Amino acid sequence: MDHYAVIGWPITHSRSPFIHRYFASQTHQSLEYERIACEPDQFESTVNDFFYTGGKGLNVTLPFKERAYRMAQHITERVRLAQAANTLWLEDGLIHADNTDGLGLLADYQYLNIPITGQSVLVFGAGGAVKGVLAPLLEKKPRELFIANRTESRARELIDSFKQIAQINQVEMNAGSVNHHRLLKPFDIVINATSASIKGETLSFPNTVFAKESYVYDMSYGRELTPFLEQARQLQVTNYYDGLGMLIEQAAESFRIWRHCRPTTKALREALRREIGENS
Ligand code: ATR
Repeated sequence: MDHYAVIGWPITHSRSPFIHRYFASQTHQSLEYERIACEPDQFESTVNDFFYTGGKGLNVTLPFKERAYRMAQHITERVRLAQAANTLWLEDGLIHADNTDGLGLLADYQYLNIPITGQSVLVFGAGGAVKGVLAPLLEKKPRELFIANRTESRARELIDSFKQIAQINQVEMNAGSVNHHRLLKPFDIVINATSASIKGETLSFPNTVFAKESYVYDMSYGRELTPFLEQARQLQVTNYYDGLGMLIEQAAESFRIWRHCRPTTKALREALRREIGENS
């Protein structure tokens, strides 16, 4: 049976085995999918052993996505831009890498009917999660994309790396601190890509970024509403979503790379929401 896994540290709460086993059953494929808890100094040797012993594909999660990019022998353009990879597989004896996070976000936006083209977009954060989604977002040609981060210099660095794609797609891209004056006016789309929600911390920023009709999205998810989405809800925002759909869609893209077929995701959305409600 073909063998797949998700590797990370910690990994106990990963939903990837649930998701990929669901996809396998839905598409009538026979495969095994497990979690690999990997101590930080063992990442490269664990990955090499996995493929050496016949493993077919790996999902890579925190904190190893940048190391997966560095050790891969063949990378997609998406990985080059993100400098991070979440999907590995062996082809012609070489470790190949892709990053499906951005595709996952866009697929979820499509599912949720959130338009991006011509809209103003605010992204909070400047870490790996943001790097993974910036290029696919810019390629959708929003009118404006503003990156706001607690540490302003990190947001500014992203402008340098992505300004060419922004220019090609005619997007006005800017960056600044979470207190920048642009945040005093609302955005059509507001995305939280910081790790604040995961850590149970509150993000501090002006409420003026939200209009009632803004689409507010947190890449994190959990049993309860994240503090970021709770803040939007209290301000009467009607369209707010957590990142569970993105998690499912990025997994579906990995599955497509490995198995050459794209599973459908609608039924899984409900099943996973139930699973998290019961087992978290
Ligand atoms: P990831 O790969 O999940 O993006 P990361 O590279 O450590 O992880 O980046 C975490 C991001 O969340 C950063 O943008 C970080 O802001 P700083 O660059 O200022 O550290 C942001 N972040 C984490 N906790 C935060 C908090 N409590 N308030 C505001 N921003 C926070």
